[in-house]
Amino acid sequence: MPAYEAMLAATAAQLTPGDRVLEIGCGTGGTAIRLAPQVGTWLATDFSAEMVRIARAKPAGGNVTFEVADAADALRRGPFDAICAFNVLHLVEDLPGTLGLIHDSLHPGGQLIARVWCFAEVPAWVRALFPVLRLLGLFPVAQMLTADGLRQALRTAGFEIVEERVFGTRLQNPFLVARRPRP
Ligand SMILES: C[S@@+](CC[C@H](N)C(=O)[O-])C[C@H]1O[C@@H](n2cnc3c(N)ncnc32)[C@H](O)[C@@H]1O
Repeated sequence: MPAYEAMLAATAAQLTPGDRVLEIGCGTGGTAIRLAPQVGTWLATDFSAEMVRIARAKPAGGNVTFEVADAADALRRGPFDAICAFNVLHLVEDLPGTLGLIHDSLHPGGQLIARVWCFAEVPAWVRALFPVLRLLGLFPVAQMLTADGLRQALRTAGFEIVEERVFGTRLQNPFLVARRPRP
């Protein structure tokens, strides 16, 4: 929990009161509910109707909206001042395409705030378990990203990385802030 609280604080530090924020892969909405009071509007989306049902059942302020949407569809609702993607970018089928959409859905100067699992960097014996866990339905289909590969994908999509940190002990799960440059 201290790591999660620190990540919330680092995210809040990037946001301003009038911001229009999109969150993709919001899960059960805890982060949206905590951070929405600090911005103008927070559109929290997830392609799982069950996740969104649970999120909607929680008490939340009036400026947060939960919607069922695939990341690509949600991104077409831009432009946004900030886009949050916590623990979801390693799950999208087309990471370069999704990063390109995120870039284009931000106002110039707007920021992607993300936490990403770089599974290629977990120990080999742990990775060897992934196919077994997947067969058991306990592990999703996920990109095997390296931290370098992630940084390169962000730069190729047109972002400049302005912050990279690790909260907690999981070095393979960095928090990044990446800005769409102003012209
Ligand atoms: C590991 S959970 C993370 C939830 C939350 N962001 C967190 O950090 O606790 C990943 C979430 O992303 C959603 N998801 C995965 N792929 C998605 C996609 N292409 N579009 C929208 N949501 C997606 C899943 O349904 C799930 O709720």
